[in-house]
Amino acid sequence: MSIPLLSVKHLTTDIHLEQGKVRAVRDVSFDLWQGKTIGIVGESGCGKSILCKSILKLLPAYAHILEKSQIIFNGRSINNLTEKELNKIRGQGAAMIFQDPLSSLNPVMKIGHQVTETLLYHLKMEEEPALKKAEDLLKAVGIANPSQRIDQYPHQLSGGLRQRVAIAIALACEPKLLIADEPTTALDVTVQAEILDLLDHLQIQRNMAMILVTHDFGLAACRADEIAVMYGGKIVEYAPAEKLLANPRMPYTKALINAIPRLEDPPHTPLQFIEGQPPNMMIPYAGCCFAPRCSLAGHQCRDQEPLLINDDTDDHSFACWNPLGKIS
Ligand SMILES: Nc1ncnc2c1ncn2[C@@H]1O[C@H](COP(=O)(O)OP(=O)(O)OP(=O)(O)O)[C@@H](O)[C@H]1O
Ligand SMILES: [Mg+2]
Repeated sequence: MSIPLLSVKHLTTDIHLEQGKVRAVRDVSFDLWQGKTIGIVGESGCGKSILCKSILKLLPAYAHILEKSQIIFNGRSINNLTEKELNKIRGQGAAMIFQDPLSSLNPVMKIGHQVTETLLYHLKMEEEPALKKAEDLLKAVGIANPSQRIDQYPHQLSGGLRQRVAIAIALACEPKLLIADEPTTALDVTVQAEILDLLDHLQIQRNMAMILVTHDFGLAACRADEIAVMYGGKIVEYAPAEKLLANPRMPYTKALINAIPRLEDPPHTPLQFIEGQPPNMMIPYAGCCFAPRCSLAGHQCRDQEPLLINDDTDDHSFACWNPLGKIS
C-alpha cells in the first residue's frame, strides 16, 4: 500500500513577539501523495507561509513548533532531525520557492553562483559541470540566453525572470516535493500563466508533489488536486478542488469563491469582499474564528470551536456548526 510522501499531523506553530504570542498555525493535518498538488488558500495573515516554513523547519528563531506536531516525509519523521540531516532533506527531498523572489535571492551574488551553490552543496558537483547544469536549469525554466544571465545580478533581471531563477534553484536537485509559496503573486497574468504551466510540466515530468500556496482561489481551483482553506491558522475546509468549488460547505469558503471576479460579469459589477477583519491571532478565541464575520453564526458558533469533520463522502471535511447545504 502506498504511503503519502508528506504527512503533517497536528502541526502547531507559535511566534513569540514582544507584545505576546501569535499562534500562527493551529493543529494543521494533511497528507500529500507523490505527483499530487495541494492548494493552500486563505486571506493574508492566515498562516500559509508559516505553515510552509514549519514543514521545512525554516522558521525564524522566535518561532516555535509545538511538540505534538508531526511531520513525516518519505516515511521518516523529521521531528528530531539535526540541522545537518534536515539540510539533506531540504534541496534534494523538498525545496521551497519563497513568496518574495527578490528577497530570497542574494543581491550581491551572480545568478550563476546562486544556482550552482545548491548543486555544489547538495550534489557535491565540481564547479565546471555545476555551471553547465545551472545553464541547463535556467534554460529549462524558460530563460533565454542562460550563458549571459549567469553572469548577471538579481537587480538586472525582471520580476518574472527572478521568479524563474528562484524556481531553477528550487528544482536544481530534483526534489520530490516542491513548496511554492505564492510563486506568481507579484507577476502579471500572462507571466503567471507561463510560470504555472512550467511548474505543471516539471511536476508531471518528475512526478513531483507540490504545495501551492495562493490567496487566489481561482488559481488553486484549476491547478490543485485538493484544496485546504485556511483561516486564523487553521484548516477550515478541505476537499478535492472541483468538489470544493462546486459545493463549499463552510461560509468562509463560499465567500472566498464569491470574491473571484468573473469575466462574464457586466462592466462596473462591484467586487464582492468579505466584511470585517481576519482574527487577531494573538487573542485566543472560544468559538469559530470566522463567527464575527459570518451571517449564519449562532450562539454555538461564538462559544464552541467547531472541529474539522468529514462529510459522509469522507474526502470533504469542514469545520462549521452551520454548514451550507450539500448539493447531491
Ligand atoms: N516575522 C514575523 N513577525 C511577527 N509576526 C509574524 C511574522 N511572520 C508571520 N507573523 C504572523 O503570523 C501570522 C501568519 O503569517 P503568515 O506570513 O504565515 O501569513 P500568510 O497567510 O502567508 O499571509 P500572506 O498571504 O500575506 O503571505 C500572521 O498573523 C502574521 O502577522
Ligand atoms: Mg505568505
